[in-house]
Amino acid sequence: VFHVHPEDIGLKSAGLLGKFDLQQVQRGFQVYKEVCSACHSLKYVHFRDLTKIGYSAGQVKAIAEAWVIEQPTINPETGEAATRKNVPADPFPSPFANEIAARAANNNALPPDLSLITKAREDGSNYVHALLMGYRDQPAELVKDFPGSKTPKGLHYNPAFANLNIAMPPPLTQDGQITYADGTKATKDQMARDVAAFLTWSAEPNLESRHGAGLATVVFLAIFLFLVWGAYQNVWRDQK
Ligand code: HEM
Repeated sequence: VFHVHPEDIGLKSAGLLGKFDLQQVQRGFQVYKEVCSACHSLKYVHFRDLTKIGYSAGQVKAIAEAWVIEQPTINPETGEAATRKNVPADPFPSPFANEIAARAANNNALPPDLSLITKAREDGSNYVHALLMGYRDQPAELVKDFPGSKTPKGLHYNPAFANLNIAMPPPLTQDGQITYADGTKATKDQMARDVAAFLTWSAEPNLESRHGAGLATVVFLAIFLFLVWGAYQNVWRDQK
């Protein structure tokens, strides 16, 4: 009763023949870049993949070069750990050197890689939006009935999250938190929808060709059915 079922955010990519709204996916990338990337990696996506959501090769190069978190590498002279600027062939880097550093910065919780998160959670696209919009004060009657569920210090009550209390502090805190390149008003709800659209793309960039293949298959089978029916009629023409 205290758990929130995600609202359907009606992404254009949803459904049998859905296609990405690239403008929205680009806005979602902006949210990832300016907000989520401070804590979450996106290791299965490479900078050059951004050309598939409408950025030019030049823009991708500039985005990679200006990315605040750099690629881990080693200094060839000294053999010590070092970093270098990103290039388009690099995956999006993790903001933390390793799990220990990540947990140390997050109250011992581990921010998961977001590349596949919309597949890893049930109804993932809608879930990401619901999670980001789900923060609120914990209802007093919940604590009264289930004292053990009281939000511990350092966690945040969020009924969209499976165990109700999440380590992630609310990432989207106010309207206008970022300024969209395309001029769209960046309300909290808009940013949550857009980043859900982006993470839907990151988890399945080939969604459109899958939908296309499905359509081609159904059309083919329909024609084939017609041919088989015709052949059947032909073969049994003289039989009563
Ligand atoms: C967990 C999304 C920003 C820290 C998560 C989860 C998602 C998510 C989907 C997984 C929840 C689950 O397991 O079902 C996002 C998005 C962000 C964002 C879309 C940007 C809009 C941040 C930021 C921080 C952060 C800025 C750090 C300050 C964490 C941590 C967890 C987490 C520590 C693990 C929570 C736990 O297991 O209790 N986030 N996040 N996130 N996130 Fe974020």
